[in-house]
Amino acid sequence: MTEVFDGDPGFIIRPYQLADRQGVRAIYGSDEFARPDLQRKYPRMGEYLADSMSHYTDYEPESAFVAEAQGEVVGALLGAVDTARCERVYRRHIRPLLIRRCLSGAYGWPGWVLPILRTEWASRHTVYPDVALRQYPAHLHIGVLPLWRRRGIGAALMTCYEEYLCQRGVAGFHLYASSFHPLGVAFYRKLGLEDLGQFEWRLHDGLQWQRVTEHIFGSRLDGPQRRSLGAESSAPEMTPRVT
Ligand SMILES: CC(C)(COP(=O)(O)OP(=O)(O)OC[C@H]1O[C@@H](n2cnc3c(N)ncnc32)[C@H](O)[C@@H]1OP(=O)(O)O)[C@@H](O)C(=O)NCCC(=O)NCCS
Repeated sequence: MTEVFDGDPGFIIRPYQLADRQGVRAIYGSDEFARPDLQRKYPRMGEYLADSMSHYTDYEPESAFVAEAQGEVVGALLGAVDTARCERVYRRHIRPLLIRRCLSGAYGWPGWVLPILRTEWASRHTVYPDVALRQYPAHLHIGVLPLWRRRGIGAALMTCYEEYLCQRGVAGFHLYASSFHPLGVAFYRKLGLEDLGQFEWRLHDGLQWQRVTEHIFGSRLDGPQRRSLGAESSAPEMTPRVT
């Protein structure tokens, strides 16, 4: 049984299907905010970015949701119910996949690897606030194509994911939003998510270092702490439909 939500007449929010894989990869393979110069210089870096998110579509597709408009995937929320398990899968399967594909030339000349390695090396001294995974075990990533933003799609995807987590009895979720993703930070604040802390790190963009503030947001889905779904958002009223 698949739940589908009707939103604005212009789009629907529904569970991810295998046929959506390319559309989802296109959204996550083109992040216009993170290292845009490197992405322009090395267009096949997008393949790497999409592969680095492939845990969600390939190992936990049931926790992914898409927004479809005019027959195309225009937004996607990629979730993981158990963050600790997701990290294990990433170390065991995704990281080796990235290395293998990089060495085999699947990403073309990987001129962006050095800035990424420099960033990882510089992060070794970063102090990360602990996220209480008992209270906030799930996490998510979200992206909407530029032309489709500010129409309530992001908020509708969040509502759908929260309902999904609630149905599974998941206690809560958290997420990270970098200062170079200002739309994300504004969006999560508007949704009224809890502020779980922040920390500073440095990103090498291929030319120079950038200071980044990483915000951690979260939401409890059990008990009185639960925020009312969609209360602060512009999500259209959604009617569950069962197909
Ligand atoms: C963040 C993102 C997913 C929001 O999706 P969206 O479909 O545009 O969001 P919605 O239309 O549901 O917006 C809900 C509310 O969030 C706030 N918001 C969303 N985008 C905003 C922006 N650019 N500036 C200020 N507030 C914003 C608004 O209050 C908005 O309600 P309103 O339009 O009635 O004022 C989208 O901007 C995006 O894909 N950004 C690039 C990727 C990204 O930053 N992902 C998050 C990484 S941490």
